[in-house]
Amino acid sequence: VNTPVRRWVGSADPSRRCGVCQHGAKGRRGLASQRVRMDTEGSGSSALEEVMETLRKNQDDAVAAMKEAQNLAALQELRVKYLGKKGSVTSVLKSIGKLPKADRPKLGGLVNQVKDEIQALFDKRKVEIEDEEIERMMVDEHFDVTLPGVGRKKGSVHPIRATIQKAVDCFVELGYELVDGPELSPEIETDYFCFEALNCPEDHPARDMQDTLYITDDQKYLLRSQTSAVQARYMKEFGPPFAIVCPGRVYRRDDIDATHSFQFHQIEIMALGKDLTLEHLRGTVIHFLKRMFGDEIKVRFRASFFPFTEPSMEVDVFFNEKWLEVLGCGMVDPFVIEKAGYDPEEWQGFAAGFGVERFSMVINEIRDIREFTNNNQEFLEQFNFHTLDGA
Ligand code: DAH
Repeated sequence: VNTPVRRWVGSADPSRRCGVCQHGAKGRRGLASQRVRMDTEGSGSSALEEVMETLRKNQDDAVAAMKEAQNLAALQELRVKYLGKKGSVTSVLKSIGKLPKADRPKLGGLVNQVKDEIQALFDKRKVEIEDEEIERMMVDEHFDVTLPGVGRKKGSVHPIRATIQKAVDCFVELGYELVDGPELSPEIETDYFCFEALNCPEDHPARDMQDTLYITDDQKYLLRSQTSAVQARYMKEFGPPFAIVCPGRVYRRDDIDATHSFQFHQIEIMALGKDLTLEHLRGTVIHFLKRMFGDEIKVRFRASFFPFTEPSMEVDVFFNEKWLEVLGCGMVDPFVIEKAGYDPEEWQGFAAGFGVERFSMVINEIRDIREFTNNNQEFLEQFNFHTLDGA
């Protein structure tokens, strides 16, 4: 393009003065809504006129569109459309080559000015839209601060676990040692520890009551039917004197109904020493039952039979207007002490055993033993055993 070389002097020099709207070259800020006045009279070429017309149109369009924008995304899109790298205002600069050299600095200044105006409008509109958004949220999304919050549900301890914990705590407080785990209290037990060592030989009718789940053909191994097996194991391993409390799972071949299950829990206690008497047994059992049922509970001892105790007793509590059997106990039979390798003239003591499900059913008034293993959340939630000592 044949453009004559011209020098710019004085106030018309666009590097120092805008030359159009008479603002300083730096820090020009007009109201975005106010169209930039581009007075080029006498100083610009017709090509400049043309480019300036495009700019003016761009500015008008941008102002109109931004005023209409209803959200930040739309507004941002407009900013990119006009001011982005490929935006229409920016691209006006591309036509700079068409202008006489003397007009070029002027165009640069003008483009900057228009950009500033559009940017200012963008900033202003952005704040407005954000305010509108907050305003809208306050109207639409108001909520009732008096409504109850969304609580997080806390798990709770299973009633069986809670009963075991409470009973074990009682004995541990009395100085008993907790015996637990597969070495001294295995669920797969030998016939010897489960029966033989407890004065219950193979043909003894007491075995029938524990109709048993043998797991080998030679009937040497079985799922233990009573935690009493731990008595025999512990005694043989460590010898007297001792006092132990042994909670654990036991198994019996039983038809399932509201009060029977093929699998349940027992807790066994045993104390062996040099001068333990029936009165120690009575005191211990009464203390324990008061802990479980409350101080007012009435307790009754009845003569009974177990192969490993002599004398043997069954214990009832008077609960909800009825006598309920809850526990078996007795003085350790001399045979059992001798079988473990100790002198029954020197050592004697007592033992007791009870079913955990039975205790929990009586205390919590649960009518069906199957509830314990049904995984029915509504059932479990009734018992608020949140802490291990909360039974
Ligand atoms: N093991 C007995 C049962 O399962 C309960 C029992 C009775 C345990 C008397 C004892 C005891 O330690 O002395 O029926």
